Amino acid sequence: MEPKELAARYDLIAQWWQIKHQNSSYGIAQLERAIQFTSRRHSALDVGCGSSGRFIDILSKQGFQPEGLDISREMIDLAVQLHPEVTFCVEDICHWIPGKLYSLICAWDSTFHLPLNMQEPVMKKLCNALESDGVILFTCGGGHTNNEISGSFQGQDFEYSTLGVDAFLRIISEHHCTCRHLEYDQYPENHVYIIAQKT
Ligand SMILES: C[S@@+](CC[C@H](N)C(=O)[O-])C[C@H]1O[C@@H](n2cnc3c(N)ncnc32)[C@H](O)[C@@H]1O
Repeated sequence: MEPKELAARYDLIAQWWQIKHQNSSYGIAQLERAIQFTSRRHSALDVGCGSSGRFIDILSKQGFQPEGLDISREMIDLAVQLHPEVTFCVEDICHWIPGKLYSLICAWDSTFHLPLNMQEPVMKKLCNALESDGVILFTCGGGHTNNEISGSFQGQDFEYSTLGVDAFLRIISEHHCTCRHLEYDQYPENHVYIIAQKT
């Protein structure tokens, strides 16, 4: 799916997303687990932050200076309304160029939308954007081979891709990060979250 088309579909459900997820606990325990591994709490980046700012809230409370990035203009406009003090940007993570290093980067249910051929370059970019000891949390499709699927959500069709767990672990390791936690957190759903730390 073209990035513009993906953004347009998320624009349409941005309001719904904000109402549904503003107080949602989905992914929060996993974020808190990732935070426990951090040794410093400087900048943090929420990739595909959505409109609720729910991860941004936790990151602020835990002493990080969070930033949010999302490809959907509507998601970001709504997030800014709730968090006017936070830096947000409308950006495709595929084209984003890091301007600094981060103590923590999270990409909860966002990079799983990347085209298959962008999974490795984006993961490499995110690992490289971590400061020493920095931590990354991301979700991906499980299994051992790459895969592309599509599915309908809130009346919109979306596409998803994964390299498979082994490839993500290889990429992390090749970019100087160590896996700290890997879990099929919604088993039997094929949903995995990985926490890794820069060595
Ligand atoms: C399923 S929502 C998750 C939102 C948020 N992480 C949460 O858990 O509340 C996926 C989000 O990722 C964003 N996204 C998808 N592909 C992206 C890309 N290439 N660059 C930046 N954001 C992207 C979407 O616009 C959407 O807001």
